[in-house]
Amino acid sequence: MPDPTLFAQVKDPANRPDPYPLYKRLREAPVAPQDDGSYVVTTHAALRALIFDPRLSSEDLPSASHPRTGNPLKDWIINPIKDHVRTKHRPFIFRDPPDHDALRRHVMREFTPARIRAMHGRVDALVEELLDKQRDARAIDLVDDFSYPLPVTVICELLGVPPEDEARFHGWATQLATALEPDARHDEETLGRNIETFDVIAAYMQDLIRDKRRHPKDDLLTGLATNADPKLGRMGDYDLIATAILLLIAGHETTVNLITNGMLTLLRHPEHLERLRTDPEIAPRLIEELLRYEPPVHFRTRKALAAIAFAGTTIPEGAPVVLLFASGSRDPARFPDPDRFDPDREDNQHFGFGGSLHFCVGAPLARLEAEAALVALARRLRNPRLIEDPPPYRPGASLRGPQHLRLAIEGVEIGR
Ligand code: HEM
Repeated sequence: MPDPTLFAQVKDPANRPDPYPLYKRLREAPVAPQDDGSYVVTTHAALRALIFDPRLSSEDLPSASHPRTGNPLKDWIINPIKDHVRTKHRPFIFRDPPDHDALRRHVMREFTPARIRAMHGRVDALVEELLDKQRDARAIDLVDDFSYPLPVTVICELLGVPPEDEARFHGWATQLATALEPDARHDEETLGRNIETFDVIAAYMQDLIRDKRRHPKDDLLTGLATNADPKLGRMGDYDLIATAILLLIAGHETTVNLITNGMLTLLRHPEHLERLRTDPEIAPRLIEELLRYEPPVHFRTRKALAAIAFAGTTIPEGAPVVLLFASGSRDPARFPDPDRFDPDREDNQHFGFGGSLHFCVGAPLARLEAEAALVALARRLRNPRLIEDPPPYRPGASLRGPQHLRLAIEGVEIGR
């Protein structure tokens, strides 16, 4: 069995720039037990098998619990009710069937290929606009100047969040994304801040949904708030709020990281940057390879609902389980030469968007944005160079990506 402290080392920020050697050691066991009682699923074959196992539950978030305020009305009545509602109506990424499937079905009715296709021109225009602002720059921070504003604007427009409110989501999204980090989930201070943030964003969403019902527009939130599924009827209001928050947050950090990790990888492999510049047709394959090689989501967690015996290890009932997607995507038993960035890879079944019933809802949108972004960056940035390598990383081990990516450039080519 591999060293049972390896996953603690993965979570250590010191290993954020390069966790892959740790993954290699973890893969010595398809399911690697850890000192803290968790079990890490490491190989492609084990992930493929266990993501379909209904004994692994996504309902592994601790119950919502407001900290005590000293105000009896809040502590004994208002906040316990809020906690109950919050725990019962979690976003569907943290739910199991049948609730998960019903909520996801409502979303898929609105998140249609036609609606995503309709965003195409708008995404291209936003990309060009963001780059135009850097026309004479000699240095940029790719995260702040480009990778962050693009997906945030796109998801807000798609949902129908007014542009003047966008800025408020930055802090909220960063705070709520900690729900995906195993250690942050049990840290009292983080939990308290998450509850406060959720209260604020839930109140905002409630008002916005009310407004959508009064003044319907052609956006996804109006669709969710007003349309009824022939079988399921209309989504309940508490679930609607949780779903709106999920879509908004899921559309933030992940796509930011795909674009930033993408540019970092291309600058480390300049031959592929040049290739993308001269032949943008390779973009779709290059993005699939990025999702395998430097994915924005490294792992998701589950809870074992029963004892599960797999490949010589038994995961006990109740144990936390880590699906280490980024390790499966680098498994040499599945991908020849897995540590090589190779956009020409033919057979590329990565776990970049997870798999099975929780497969990413936003995958088509994320692919569209990343393609528009990387093609334009390759075409328009003049002589881009990394100012620091490795760059500083955000704290998250699950949602992994640079906090900043500073580039030296010699201005930006004129747009289309
Ligand atoms: C590059 C960008 C993205 C990546 C790498 C990514 C990755 C993932 C992954 C790995 C999962 C699986 C979670 C699990 O198994 O528990 C997931 C689920 C999900 N993603 Fe994404 N995502 C991205 C962008 C987006 C966007 C733009 C949206 C929304 C607009 C979105 C919405 C969702 C939702 C709602 C789920 C939950 C699906 C479910 O539980 O059925 N994602 N994503």
